[in-house]
Amino acid sequence: LLPQRVTLVDVGPRDGLQNESQPVDTSHKVALVHQLQAAGLREIEVTSFVSPKWVPQMADNAAVMAGIARPAGVRHSVLTPNLKGLEAALPSRPDEIVVFAAATEAFSQRNINCSIEESFERFRPVVAEAHRHGIKVRGAISCAVGCPYQGDVSADEVERVVRLMKEAGVDHCGVADTIGVGTPRKVQAAMERALKHYPVAEVSGHFHDTYGQALANVYACLEVGIHTFDASVGGLGGCPYAKGATGNVATEDVLYMLNGLGIETGIDIERLVDAAAGISRALGRPVSSRVGKALLAR
Ligand code: HMG
Ligand code: MG
Repeated sequence: LLPQRVTLVDVGPRDGLQNESQPVDTSHKVALVHQLQAAGLREIEVTSFVSPKWVPQMADNAAVMAGIARPAGVRHSVLTPNLKGLEAALPSRPDEIVVFAAATEAFSQRNINCSIEESFERFRPVVAEAHRHGIKVRGAISCAVGCPYQGDVSADEVERVVRLMKEAGVDHCGVADTIGVGTPRKVQAAMERALKHYPVAEVSGHFHDTYGQALANVYACLEVGIHTFDASVGGLGGCPYAKGATGNVATEDVLYMLNGLGIETGIDIERLVDAAAGISRALGRPVSSRVGKALLAR
């Protein structure tokens, strides 16, 4: 029995755009968030408060947050890897913050310049401070099924980080296939470790589509009851610290499958494809998602 309702978190404005080498105008980012809201998205990852030297594309984080309408019922999240990021984010009043850790030491060093243990030393005060402000904390575990530097990643390695997330007080556990190498059973095994420590409503999947497995992996998660997924409108994106990794699974591709399964999301596919077309136009390239291409060709 599959879940009857699924929550899609559009991470396109953040994960989708962070890897763009050409600066994307703040107005285009704001317009994208507005189009996602118009399409019915109720959770949007807007930007990240990270070092602008590391990720220049996210340097306009506060301006994007200030520029977007904040209708009731829509939750806006931002990445905050450390206290400096959280302090910079607080005036923007995010509904949620996202902290991230890797399942492997090698990726932790490349992505956030510290060991897994050290990354949790940095998070603990971030989590406490966010909670003091009534802000929910989502955690993301990168490289949960494969790492560009280490190779295969075991479920034990994932569970170690899930435990650390739980101990640190992180409210939600996102399991991420950063480089899109996972396959359905492998993904289920990682998810099962997250479900040992978090309720199903607080576990989500985040799949990059590098090897074309992301949709199959979403379905595999539905089979174990997971009903929250990150996805990126238009299939935008990549990760600056995972060479060759492509974008997240396209939100419209996931939505098309969920619609076909009779699973409710509250999202309008036509308006979602409008959002994909809008941001692709701003980036000067065609929509890359399968469903986007198909619907725009009619
Ligand atoms: P660091 O160099 O180890 O830290 O960076 P530092 O404390 O030594 O600071 C270095 C400089 O950065 C200093 O500036 C700080 O002030 C500044 P300087 O003195 O040289 O002028 N700084 C900051 N500036 C703005 N905001 C901040 C901030 N922190 C320090 N928050 C740090 C550590 C984590 C900041 C750095 O490594 C970083 O920003 N890395 C980028 C990480 C990132 O954004 N990765 C991509 C997002 S994660 C992702 O995509 C994965 C995910 O999608 C799931 C998946 O698919 O796996 C979530
Ligand atoms: Mg990602």
